[in-house]
Amino acid sequence: MRFSFVVASLALGVASTRATHHALPHAQVIGRDVQLLSSYEYVIVGAGTAGLTVADRLSEDPLKVLVIETGDLDHGEDEILIPRYALGAPRKYFYDIPSVPMPGLNNRSELLSVGRIVGGSSAVNGMFMPRGAKSDYDLWRDLGNPGWGWRDLLPYFIKSETFTPPPASLASKFNITWDMRYHGTKGPVKSSYPPFLYPAVNVFLNAIRQFGSHVPYEHASGDALGAYWAPNTLDPVTRTRSYARTAHYDTIKSRVNFHLLYNTTVTKITFNGKTATGVMYASGPKARSKSVSASREVILAAGAPHTPQLLQISGVGPRKLLESFNIPVISDLPGVGANFHDHPYLFTAGTVAHDLNPSPSNTSNATWMAEQLDLYRTKRDGVYTTSLGNTAAFLPLNEITLLSTSIVNSLKSQDPVKAPPAETDSTVLAGWKAQRDLIVKYTLEGKIAAGEFIGGSGAGMGLVLLKPLSRGSLTIKSTSAFDDPIVDFGTLRNPLDLDILTEMIKAWRRMLLTPAMQSMGPAATSPADNVTSTADIQAYIRANLAASLWHPTGSAPMLKKELGGVVDTRLLVYGTRGLSIVDASILPICPSTHITSTVYAVAEKVLIFFVFRS
Ligand SMILES: Cc1cc2nc3c(=O)[nH]c(=O)nc-3n(C[C@H](O)[C@H](O)[C@H](O)COP(=O)(O)OP(=O)(O)OC[C@H]3O[C@@H](n4cnc5c(N)ncnc54)[C@H](O)[C@@H]3O)c2cc1C
Ligand SMILES: *[C@@H]1O[C@H](CO)[C@@H](O)[C@H](O)[C@H]1NC(C)=O
Ligand SMILES: *[C@@H]1O[C@H](CO)[C@@H](O)[C@H](O)[C@H]1NC(C)=O
Ligand SMILES: *[C@@H]1O[C@H](CO)[C@@H](O)[C@H](O)[C@H]1NC(C)=O
Ligand SMILES: *[C@@H]1O[C@H](CO)[C@@H](O)[C@H](O)[C@H]1NC(C)=O
Ligand SMILES: *[C@@H]1O[C@H](CO)[C@@H](O)[C@H](O)[C@H]1NC(C)=O
Ligand SMILES: *[C@@H]1O[C@H](CO)[C@@H](O)[C@H](O)[C@H]1NC(C)=O
Repeated sequence: MRFSFVVASLALGVASTRATHHALPHAQVIGRDVQLLSSYEYVIVGAGTAGLTVADRLSEDPLKVLVIETGDLDHGEDEILIPRYALGAPRKYFYDIPSVPMPGLNNRSELLSVGRIVGGSSAVNGMFMPRGAKSDYDLWRDLGNPGWGWRDLLPYFIKSETFTPPPASLASKFNITWDMRYHGTKGPVKSSYPPFLYPAVNVFLNAIRQFGSHVPYEHASGDALGAYWAPNTLDPVTRTRSYARTAHYDTIKSRVNFHLLYNTTVTKITFNGKTATGVMYASGPKARSKSVSASREVILAAGAPHTPQLLQISGVGPRKLLESFNIPVISDLPGVGANFHDHPYLFTAGTVAHDLNPSPSNTSNATWMAEQLDLYRTKRDGVYTTSLGNTAAFLPLNEITLLSTSIVNSLKSQDPVKAPPAETDSTVLAGWKAQRDLIVKYTLEGKIAAGEFIGGSGAGMGLVLLKPLSRGSLTIKSTSAFDDPIVDFGTLRNPLDLDILTEMIKAWRRMLLTPAMQSMGPAATSPADNVTSTADIQAYIRANLAASLWHPTGSAPMLKKELGGVVDTRLLVYGTRGLSIVDASILPICPSTHITSTVYAVAEKVLIFFVFRS
């Protein structure tokens, strides 16, 4: 597929860098010292995880591709590249959007944070790179999306990565197993294991076995229930972050048919009738907007929070909302911004009487940390090679609680309006019912994980609600792309989410009672053991739960239109032509995992549709 020849008809290279700067203040065209063309075959909105992947693959062919990104290029800061600093990038590289106060969280407002940088969230995320379970994707297929099950996606997980197994010494010490049949060896994103691991990881894995779950041989095969140490988006040689910029931009920036315009915000999609013709963009809220056209397709890859915003601003969304802003309706789609969800989580805490050596507590020893940083800089080894936590258990509901069946029965008989916000369109409600029926089915079969327990450092664990039953919304508050959208996570709107989290706290306490954990002499501190009644546990959860593990999903879902869908199985937006979406907003239900690898796989898979459309 990779065409390397240069197409003569691309008359690029005429204007000087200076002229380009003059024409586009605060913006730059990367790739060549060229002026922006007036027309491209593809204009991609957002140089994030999915956007750069698609740009790379499309520009392998002699097609003119422009990517427009609101964020800056990073400058190789340690906080971007060094694994230990993951999540610590400067805030200028993030959108931090406060949500509305949420009744389920004692009216707390929570931040929706995503990347705002070339590379998108892959540049600032936690570098944890697990895949979901087979059923996470089969669930999408069963929702009415043929071609989107596990077997359909697996080739693209493989295509996206170059996996490097751990060295034998590390593998035997931590009993790491893998199966190369499920891994790629030629893909752009580097997937590997850091050489450093706290010994408490083995305690955790054994505790999960004793708890009654299992440790899969290779989670990347779709057998992703249970506990494992998953790889990172980590270059195994430099031991630095592998992200969309290094995987899909640095490698292609010299292609003459590929342009990136950064520090530039897309303000609107332009239409001729129902056909998307291009986009408007501006370097700031006060700057004059300019336009560029897309002869084949406008591809939205602005991420789950901003793709629905741009659609709504441009006339694609719920008619009532659009009319309240006097936006001409191009396509009345109630699903745009509905079905929004994320993974809520909370951290439990505790102490251990018999800590292992080394342990996370050693990171407060400045002398040791200075030695470790030196070790990283000189030998690419030690604690700085690893991001925050790479070991977790992904457990189905029946392994978390004996109340599994009763929770599922409550879900089955529940009034469906409990999940989405009030005044939800009937198609969106029908979509929720379809999701609910399949969540019920797969939960009863024990095939999807309901809760994640991030462990391996001591008594405290991160508890993540993986299949939240609540739904939120994203809506515009003005017609400006420079204003944040109104974010409602909807956290704990459905009371059954609170019930599941309550059972997860009890499960965590039982995990501490396993012989493996007992060997460390653990004691819970938060919630402390005196928080016992259901009411007290639930009050604790409402006070401490975070709304977002930074997995915003589902805000422009791939579903039938009658189910509140926004894109079809080829990712084309209903009621329009020449407009598609490829980013986390199309995932109809968030997989029970961390989602970077899935976003890459989805973006890789999309290429085939472009080939057939043209
Ligand atoms: C802090 C954090 C930690 C995370 N940790 C992990 C983890 O450890 N493991 C894991 O698997 N997943 C993790 N994730 C999730 C994962 O990184 C994301 O789900 C995934 O990268 C999203 O990819 P995307 O292509 O949908 O969007 P993004 O990669 O976010 O890209 C969207 C891009 O569009 C740009 N954009 C938005 N609006 C406009 C506009 N109007 N004009 C132009 N450009 C625009 C944005 O600036 C951004 O660069 C984390 C995410 C975050 C934010
Ligand atoms: C991009 O924007 C940032 C922040 O506003 C600014 O510091 C930087 O100089 C800009 N880069 C270019 C090339 O204009
Ligand atoms: C949250 O706010 C609403 C509306 O202002 C109020 O009725 C409710 O009592 C508040 N809840 C809490 C827990 O403070
Ligand atoms: C190592 O992993 C295998 C397969 O997951 C498991 O069967 C075995 O018990 C593990 N061994 C130890 C010592 O933990
Ligand atoms: C970690 O801290 C413990 C307790 O202070 C200490 O005994 C141990 O030697 C430390 N380990 C390292 C590697 O410094
Ligand atoms: C802190 O680290 C230094 C260097 O490794 C070590 O010598 C010292 O014992 C450590 N202190 C504690 C309290 O663990
Ligand atoms: C538990 O104990 C702590 C400290 O002793 C106290 O502050 C807290 O109020 C108690 N919580 C409950 C629910 O009893």
